[in-house]
Amino acid sequence: MGCGTGRLIPGLAAFGWRVAGYEPNVVYAAAARTRVAGVEGASVVTGGFLDLDEEQAFDLICAINDPFAHLTTVSDRRDALRRVRGAPVDGGVFVIDNPNFLWNLVNYRRQEVISRCWAARRTTRCVTRSTSPSTSCSNKRHS
Ligand SMILES: C[S@@+](CC[C@H](N)C(=O)[O-])C[C@H]1O[C@@H](n2cnc3c(N)ncnc32)[C@H](O)[C@@H]1O
Repeated sequence: MGCGTGRLIPGLAAFGWRVAGYEPNVVYAAAARTRVAGVEGASVVTGGFLDLDEEQAFDLICAINDPFAHLTTVSDRRDALRRVRGAPVDGGVFVIDNPNFLWNLVNYRRQEVISRCWAARRTTRCVTRSTSPSTSCSNKRHS
């Protein structure tokens, strides 16, 4: 669910599973379709949580790397979970992988600091602190 450009689909299909990647973004869905063309048992559906109408259809539903977080209202989340609840077979599994927003807030870095660190990355090492937003770049070379 929320397969993006489909990077995980070939690996899942390699287990011998039939894999349906759901992706509401039409551009990502098209890219995923291109990626999995020729991968046996793999397909891509243009649609997301709120388009899921299947009943007892999947052994596993996985939403990896934050698709659920794209649902920003309580009613959308409730609707999504209602749909997901009906979609697996009895004993099926739903795996949801979300960002840890609390961690992000605690470890928040000002964008200009991040940009400076990335720009200097080839020759310098970024030093970050987990408790303060005032992060700095060191000039130490990678060893
Ligand atoms: C960070 S990407 C992760 C893509 C993929 N799972 C991966 O790990 O490569 C999050 C994906 O969630 C999708 N998304 C956004 N709204 C969604 C929704 N309502 N239902 C399902 N997926 C959604 C986005 O379009 C995006 O492709």
